[in-house]
Amino acid sequence: MIFIYCAIIFKTVIGETFMEKRPDTMERITTKELAQAFIAEQVEAIKAQVGNKKVLLALSGGVDSSVVAALLIKAIGQNLVCVHVNHGLLRKGEPEQVIEVFKNQMKANLIYIDATDRFLDKLAGVAEPEKKRKIIGEEFIRVFEEEARKQSGIDFLAQGTIYPDILESGPVKAHHNVGGLPEDIHFEGLVEPIKFLFKDEVRVVGKELGLPDNMVYRQPFPGPGLGVRCTGAITRERLNLVRESDAILREEFAKAGLEGKVWQYFTIVPDCKSVGIKNNLRAVENFCVIRAVNTKDAMTATIEEIPYAVLGKIVNRIVTEVPGINRVLYDITPKPTGTIEWE
Ligand code: XMP
Repeated sequence: MIFIYCAIIFKTVIGETFMEKRPDTMERITTKELAQAFIAEQVEAIKAQVGNKKVLLALSGGVDSSVVAALLIKAIGQNLVCVHVNHGLLRKGEPEQVIEVFKNQMKANLIYIDATDRFLDKLAGVAEPEKKRKIIGEEFIRVFEEEARKQSGIDFLAQGTIYPDILESGPVKAHHNVGGLPEDIHFEGLVEPIKFLFKDEVRVVGKELGLPDNMVYRQPFPGPGLGVRCTGAITRERLNLVRESDAILREEFAKAGLEGKVWQYFTIVPDCKSVGIKNNLRAVENFCVIRAVNTKDAMTATIEEIPYAVLGKIVNRIVTEVPGINRVLYDITPKPTGTIEWE
């Protein structure tokens, strides 16, 4: 499986990234005080590294790139250029939240690119999951590359690399690279302020930087986004069904106090229909599947036993509020044999 992470790590012409080690003396960041000390230290380190030069960052809205953005805004303000690419496969409200938090509240220099049509046109008729992933990953790089070319005088590229990325990838982070920027886009250096942090530490730092809880404690979300939850060839219609049903599921999980307790939960809309009843007539419509799993490392996963009353409410809301869905299924297959995502 080709993995495209939310914080896509670009291969740059600076050279390959060699295995780096977290200093043995580095204390695990578990408290407010330790987070504050880390932030102060990194702000100084960033200032020393980039001076008054400009830095470019692909900001997905995931916790890693958001923490990097917040640190850089603190250190260099408007000299950070954030690029948020909406590939049309984001969850309901995500691009709006990135704009609200970073542009409106933190006054970041944010470029928002709505590339929905571009991605969906490229994906039209493509049913094979790996091909879909490849198209999404490559197109992302192309959009970012075009933006990088438009910007003049940018010397550094910032990345949300975290320590597990380094540990899992060996000397070169090859498996994250889905293409990379062309050789003629040259950066003087990489800025990777959270490269020695584990995920739990990134969250403690994010909280201290004032990022909203639903960004800091966000459930994992794959780079290809809703694209792997709208199985087979993606259509705008089914993509909308995934987005709307997922939003209801997340809302009801939050109301039931399950947000932050369950590792990952979402809906899938398979490329398949079933017969239901609409206005007293038989109607062939789509159905959606609920997936809610718990895991430590995503290698194996168990099923979250959603209380029946919560399930009932979710089903009722989806079939009444999402026109086009007439049936809801609950996938209770652990991993293995089922993977967490359906594609
Ligand atoms: P699976 O479906 O393999 O997923 O059990 C394990 C974890 O990885 C996430 N996932 C992906 N993340 N790009 C990503 O960035 C991908 O193509 C991708 N496929 C799966 C999945 O959401 C789960 O957390």
